[in-house]
Amino acid sequence: MTRLLSVHSVDDPAILEAAAILTAGGLVAFPTETVYGLGADGLNPAAVARIYAAKGRPATNPVILHVDGPASARALTSRWPAEATALAERFWPGSLTLVLPASEQVPAIVRANGPTVALRCPAHPVAQALIKAVGRPLAAPSANRSQHLSPTLAEHVASSLGEGVDLILDGGPTAAGLESTILDLSGARPRILRPGPVAPADLAALLGVVDLWEGAVKPGATQAAPGMAERHYAPRARLELVAPGSGQAAGPGPIAYVAFGHLPPLPDSIRGILLPLDAEAVGTRLFALLHELDDAGFERVVMERPPEGEAWMAVRDRLRRASVKEPV
Ligand code: TXA
Ligand code: MG
Repeated sequence: MTRLLSVHSVDDPAILEAAAILTAGGLVAFPTETVYGLGADGLNPAAVARIYAAKGRPATNPVILHVDGPASARALTSRWPAEATALAERFWPGSLTLVLPASEQVPAIVRANGPTVALRCPAHPVAQALIKAVGRPLAAPSANRSQHLSPTLAEHVASSLGEGVDLILDGGPTAAGLESTILDLSGARPRILRPGPVAPADLAALLGVVDLWEGAVKPGATQAAPGMAERHYAPRARLELVAPGSGQAAGPGPIAYVAFGHLPPLPDSIRGILLPLDAEAVGTRLFALLHELDDAGFERVVMERPPEGEAWMAVRDRLRRASVKEPV
């Protein structure tokens, strides 16, 4: 059995135990305000290699380094532009990841051999305390098998990664529920690689023009940007997106129908689920709901397309990727 320890405060002894495991090259899953991360000492290539093995993650997909603040982040870069200072002041600690040119200190395996490093200063007090206790940056992707749903509960980590983790710190459900916004500052213009809790408009207010990268890679094709595989965050059930209000969900197997704001009439055989017309609330709940529907044995999840508009961008992104059919 994987060990799971509840953490109730930042001076909980479980944090020191977790730090000792990380310092010795082990793997610890810990809560952040977005999703649970699978942590290792980010400056120890052998420890980071264990992350890839535990997740079944392709070596071409780099990992984020989690730091305790801008000074530690800056030391891991070879160029730290004025924008990075402004963004860190405004959004750190928080759900924003910055991609910058890496310094020589960053192991190649963290960067997937690329020239850049992704850096994030998480707001969750347990994550902060753990980084400080280890005294080094923590490499941490989401604590799930590669391509599967991200974990928003410690139990999700245990069921997805099982024995692959030395310890899971249980800090309860995560607040944001969707992974951080990733902003690439290594190119000529700032570019959002992954929409998330920090909205494009908030970034644009600080930076001026921000590009949005929408060139998601088709299944089977070589990845143009790291980690941007089209199918991602996928439940076991087949997820289909339909027009709002259609109620369309016929066919064999247990089916769940998910609507936003209003549930259309459905046959008795179909389980209807109503989500609020509130992007933030849906973001918090989305992965947990898909986990629950998987656990309940639904073979198909028919979900109405979420509303247009920027507030829903991160939810739309995750659902689009989760609904891409497996490459045959
Ligand atoms: O909220 C989050 O960001 C969570 C928590 C645990 O911090 N972490 C997370 O990590 O979502 P992961 O590995 O599941 O997703 C990180 C994404 C991947 O798609 C990866 O390809 C991309 O960040 N990434 C990492 N390093 C990069 C780099 N140097 N350049 C571009 N993309 C990078
Ligand atoms: Mg992930």
